Amino acid sequence: IGFAVALVVGYLIGSVPFGLILTRAAGLGDIRAIGSGNIGATNVLRTGNKGIAAATLLLDGAKGAVAVLLLRWLAPDQDLASGTAAVLGHLFPVWLGFRGGKGVATALGVYLAAMWMVGVACCAIWLVVAKVAKRSSAASLTACAAAPVLALLLYGAEYGLLALLVGALVFWKHEGNIRRLLAGTEPRIGEK
Ligand code: G3P
Repeated sequence: IGFAVALVVGYLIGSVPFGLILTRAAGLGDIRAIGSGNIGATNVLRTGNKGIAAATLLLDGAKGAVAVLLLRWLAPDQDLASGTAAVLGHLFPVWLGFRGGKGVATALGVYLAAMWMVGVACCAIWLVVAKVAKRSSAASLTACAAAPVLALLLYGAEYGLLALLVGALVFWKHEGNIRRLLAGTEPRIGEK
């Protein structure tokens, strides 16, 4: 399996929009018409259904982990390419006209599978910032900003580069959130 195949496999795994599928299946309507309009777990929580939100978080995270672990098994040197492609698949799913999510859960899944110490550290950072700032986006942005530094220090340049690329994409997708955070209008976790 070469680089291009790893990218396609990772992309297809990442492109499954679990938030949209699960909320529809639970009869909660189209998640893209609710709250921030995002298909991720934070927005699914705004429907009030904690179970579906937790399932979205786990499955979106699992996409990233599976993309890394599957390729590590099939073609060990292509696992990082596949993981990066999974985040791209979540961000730009062909099935939704390339309008996908913000990539945080999938990125955490990639980090846990590809560089577990960074994954665990980022999850811890997310939880601490979420507890203090009470905003999911603030927690996500802090964790994704810390990841490239931790990855570089703990795993080397290739991993640092992966986390830098993923982090840049996550920040880009959070443009609206960053604006609301700066204006003090970003809703708290669970708030509509
Ligand atoms: O992971 C997404 C989160 O950081 C922000 O989600 O719905 O508040 O834009 P949302």
